[in-house]
Amino acid sequence: MRSAGPGLYVHIPFCSKKCLYCGSVSFSGRQAEAGRYLRALEREASCRPAFKPATLYVGGGTPSELSCEQMGSLLASLSERFGSLEALREATLEGNPESLDAPKLDVLRRAGVRRLSIGLQTTEDRLLKAIGRRHSFADFERVYQEARGRSFSLSVDLMLGLPGQSLSGALASLKAVLRLDPGHLSLYCLHVEEGTPFAAEGLAVDEDLSREMLEASIELLAKAGYRHYEISNFAKPGRESLHNLNYWENGPYLGLGCAAAGCLGGVRYRNEGELHAYCAKIERGESAAVSSEALAGKEKTGEDLMLGLRLIEGIRLTRPMRRYFASELESLRRRGLIELERSPKTGLPLRARLSRRGLFFANEVFREFVPPYMESSHMRPKHQALPKGTQCGAAAAAPEACT
Ligand SMILES: C[S@@+](CC[C@H](N)C(=O)[O-])C[C@H]1O[C@@H](n2cnc3c(N)ncnc32)[C@H](O)[C@@H]1O
Ligand code: SF4
Repeated sequence: MRSAGPGLYVHIPFCSKKCLYCGSVSFSGRQAEAGRYLRALEREASCRPAFKPATLYVGGGTPSELSCEQMGSLLASLSERFGSLEALREATLEGNPESLDAPKLDVLRRAGVRRLSIGLQTTEDRLLKAIGRRHSFADFERVYQEARGRSFSLSVDLMLGLPGQSLSGALASLKAVLRLDPGHLSLYCLHVEEGTPFAAEGLAVDEDLSREMLEASIELLAKAGYRHYEISNFAKPGRESLHNLNYWENGPYLGLGCAAAGCLGGVRYRNEGELHAYCAKIERGESAAVSSEALAGKEKTGEDLMLGLRLIEGIRLTRPMRRYFASELESLRRRGLIELERSPKTGLPLRARLSRRGLFFANEVFREFVPPYMESSHMRPKHQALPKGTQCGAAAAAPEACT
C-alpha cells in the first residue's frame, strides 16, 4: 500500500465547544478571530518554498466552523498557491454535524474538496451529551445524507470506551453507521488527555472493555467488507486515506497554521500553538515555527519503524532497522507482540507487523523504538492525522522567516 506522495495539512483551530475529552489544539468562542487567522494562514503559505502536494487535509479543531465565505476564500487561496484542488489525489476536510450544512457542502464541492471526515463518536444521544458534543445522531444523519447526495467520499469517526458506553451500545453505534455505508471509518479508543476536563475529574478508562469493543468492532467491520489497514482505520477497497498513509510511511508534508507540524527535507518543525501568538508572529514577518530538528541515525530509524508498525500490513525492515533494533524486534516477537517474516535462505527478518495481541498493546511496542522524551507525543492514541515529531525524506527547505 503506497501513499499518494507529499501532503499539505492546514489546521483550523476553532470549535463550537470544547469536548470534555479533547486535548487537540482548538479554541471555542474565538471564531471572531477567524478572519485574522485566515489572513495569517495565507501569508504563511505564501512564504513557504515551492511545494507540490499530492493530498490536502484541512483538519482541526473544526474546519466546518468557518463560514461559507471564509471556507471559500481559504480554499481559493490554497489552490492559487498550491495548484488546483481538483487535481490533487485527495482533498479532505474535517467537519462536525452541528456546523455542516448544504451551502457549506456546495462551497466545498465547488472548490474541489471531495472527501469529508465527519466526527460522530457515538449514535447514543445521552453519551454525546455526556462527552460535551453539540450535535445529536439525527443531526449527523441529516448532514451525512446531504454530503452523500453531493457525492462526497465519506469517513466517520467513532469512539470506544466512553464513560457509560457498554459493549452492546458501542456495537449498536457501529452497526447503525455501517447501515449508512461510509467508505472509511476511524475507530478511536478514548484516551484521557492531560489538561482536559476528563483528566481533571480523574476519569479512568476501562482498558479491558475498550479492547473488547475494539476486538468485536474489528470482526464486525471485516464481515461488512472493510479492510483494517491501520490500528484505528478501516476502509472499503480503494478508500484508504492517502493523506494519512503518507504520515505512516514517514513521508514529507507541509503543515500550515497554529500548532501545525510539518516535515520537509528531513527537518521537522512545529508551529506556535497559541492562536494570537501564531498570528502575531506571522504579522511581524517571522516564521511561525517554534521548534525544528533534523533527526538521523537511530532516532530516525526508530520513528520509521514505529510509524510503519501502525499499518496492519507492517513494514519492510531495512538494514538500519535490523542493525539498531535487532534485540528489541526479537524480544517483541518473543512476547507475542509482533510477527517477523524471515528470509527462507538467510533467516534474516524481512518484515515486521503487529500481532493480533500487539494491536491492543501497540504503545508497549512503540515504546521500544522511541527515546523517552518523545513518548508523550508519539504515544497519543489513534487520532494521529497530525502526528507529532515525525521524520521524512523528500528535499525541501526548513522553516524560514517570512517577510
Ligand atoms: C481532533 S478531532 C477533530 C475533528 C472534529 N472536530 C471532531 O470532533 O470530529 C478528530 C477525532 O479525534 C478523536 N479524538 C479526539 N480526542 C480523543 C481522545 N482523547 N481519545 C480518543 N479519540 C479522540 C475523535 O474521534 C475526533 O473525531
Ligand atoms: S473533538 Fe473535535 S469538536 Fe471536540 S474539541 Fe476536539 S477538535 Fe473540537
